[in-house]
Amino acid sequence: MAISSKILKKIAKTYGTPTYIYNLDTIIDRYTYFQNAFPWPKLAICYAMKANYNFDILRCLHALGSYIDAVSPGDLYMALKVGFNTSKIIYTANNMKDAEVDEVMKTGVLMNIGSLSRLEKYAHKYPGTDICLRFNPDVVDGEHEKIKTGGDLTKFGILLEDVDQVVDIIRRHRLKVVGLHEHTGSGLVKSDSILNAMKNIMSIANQSNFPDLMFLDFGGGFKISYAPNEAPIDYIVMGKQIISLFSDFCRDYGRDLELRFEPGKFLTAHAGELLVEVNTIKKNRNRLICGTDSGFPQLIRPMFYEAYHQIDNISNPDDKLLKYDICGNICETGDLFAKDRHISQIKEGDLLSIRDAGAYCYSMGGVYNLRPMPAEVVVQNNEIRLSRERLTPLELINLVVAESNYMMLPN
Ligand code: LLP
Repeated sequence: MAISSKILKKIAKTYGTPTYIYNLDTIIDRYTYFQNAFPWPKLAICYAMKANYNFDILRCLHALGSYIDAVSPGDLYMALKVGFNTSKIIYTANNMKDAEVDEVMKTGVLMNIGSLSRLEKYAHKYPGTDICLRFNPDVVDGEHEKIKTGGDLTKFGILLEDVDQVVDIIRRHRLKVVGLHEHTGSGLVKSDSILNAMKNIMSIANQSNFPDLMFLDFGGGFKISYAPNEAPIDYIVMGKQIISLFSDFCRDYGRDLELRFEPGKFLTAHAGELLVEVNTIKKNRNRLICGTDSGFPQLIRPMFYEAYHQIDNISNPDDKLLKYDICGNICETGDLFAKDRHISQIKEGDLLSIRDAGAYCYSMGGVYNLRPMPAEVVVQNNEIRLSRERLTPLELINLVVAESNYMMLPN
């Protein structure tokens, strides 16, 4: 559900640029589609809030009944602030220190543990408690090397072959394993990866190893299409296969378990866009270099993963297509949103929209070069609301400089 150019221009006029815009109606549509694609009575959609922790997005998902996948104390406190019940949050950090485990345990949220070493330490300190265990699904997939999570070359999860050691620890310390978890990667490209990962987890999820299971959680990774030539995946078809596999598993296990997934990108990527203004057009021989008022710290996916984000000229959408490099305002050569991209002719002052920027864009942002992050605006039923202000450079400095150092600064 695209936001009209008229609304985008109005947002730029009111709040300036760069500004992230999120369409909450799209998030509601995506959530509903996901629910319908996996028609299991005990389905839990645990939104991976690392994709986008915007308060309004979290509130919207909370109202829809979503659960939360939190990965840091910050995530956890944010989810609690929004009002998510502790029983609807799963905590899946990796490489935690003891103090972090203790902090999370105080909140009563379920801990998901992904290494034998952490499990042993946890079991000593918290015997008899409920836990979830993260296994490595031993399936390698994902739309970029940096976001493949399965397989023994990554740091994630306990290897399936170590299950006997796991069972030994949980029996010695009377831990109650209420859930098993895996996450294969983000943007799973191969159609059978989810099913293969599920089968691998199911192969160890039996009554003799884990008699107390209440759910199996198969993570996120549901690929979406970023480029116009990428065909969208039909999750309704995939959902049927998944439900049939899960229902057979539950029959063998002896009772119906909750089926959990943790979509991030799938729910929010299409709902967001970054609105930027063009301030410089440079012609280097036959290259057209278009300079904007944002940069890679504010939307890093193209630079970090060579990710494709469609870019449209909102001010002049139907002119002849010319080939541009779309750049940011950061002092680095790699500061590009797109290279050799055909876009309707751009003039200085035009507004560009960088599409599908609702997941892992703002949330992966930073303030390199001390440029404040963009504002965030939400749109619902064509109504516009400011969700988070853009700091001024001076406000940013006030956050960066410790108060005790102020006396040393010149006025
Ligand atoms: N569950 C776990 C345990 C995860 O580690 C992740 C993502 C998800 C769920 C959600 O995956 P999704 O459905 O969003 O694919 N920054 C990268 C993606 C990294 C994902 C990290 N973990 C990107 O921009 O493509």
